Amino acid sequence: GLVPWLFNTQLLGEKLKERFGLSDVIVVPGNTDQDLFAQEDLSRAGAEYLRKILYPGCIVAVTGGTTLAGVAKMIREGVDARDIFVVPARGGLGEEVETQAGNIAAKIARAIGAQYRLLHIPDSLEASTAEALKKDIHISEVVKTIRSADILIHGIGPAEEMAYRRGLSPAEVDFLQKNDARGEALRYYFDKDGKIIFEIPGIGIEIDDFTHIGTKVAVAGGSSKAAAIEAVLRSGQENVLITDEGAAQKIIYGK
Ligand code: BG6
Repeated sequence: GLVPWLFNTQLLGEKLKERFGLSDVIVVPGNTDQDLFAQEDLSRAGAEYLRKILYPGCIVAVTGGTTLAGVAKMIREGVDARDIFVVPARGGLGEEVETQAGNIAAKIARAIGAQYRLLHIPDSLEASTAEALKKDIHISEVVKTIRSADILIHGIGPAEEMAYRRGLSPAEVDFLQKNDARGEALRYYFDKDGKIIFEIPGIGIEIDDFTHIGTKVAVAGGSSKAAAIEAVLRSGQENVLITDEGAAQKIIYGK
């Protein structure tokens, strides 16, 4: 019935909040690995949460991925967003068009009536190329906006899957395995203690920026992401988690 089901998600939310020192946790029912309705619920919860925390003049940075694409699909207007900026957290031409951060930023901006700025550069670069591009005047303007984001909303992925999606080299994959990489967020790979063990050079938000971004919201669900979510949360850098029962149950009870 409805009551025990609500109770379970709320209880899981409280436990996650306490365990990882988060200010807010939302757990939607079901497991997005298997359930399309749960996927929609997760997207809607992410979209509603984001809309709730927007304020005039804020800068919102978003990542790519299927989860954030879902959030972009669900978000509705409702705030005065004329002087809100939505930007990709990092350059992101590495994925399918629908799941690129820039595309998602533009979609969210259009839906809420905000402005957006894009970074037309790939998300995986050689370190020397990234350094050279950062000096470009047009790029550095956008990067300045991105790095002064007030709100960051991002996905989390399993380390192995993300390494594959980002086309890492066999040597890099080997390194990640040897160092027990569990989760990935914003091109950073985290081990089970939340330590960053590997980073893909890119342009945009860097881990040092985390300390001055007021609200960091991770949106990730599915029991298959439990270990990844836990790894990223252990870094102690997040404020808010929006997840599902499948992931929450596995993180809290191990199944
Ligand atoms: C990426 C984010 O775009 O989405 C990553 O930059 C995240 O940090 C990934 O791991 C998750 O993707 P998905 O498709 O599982 O939502």
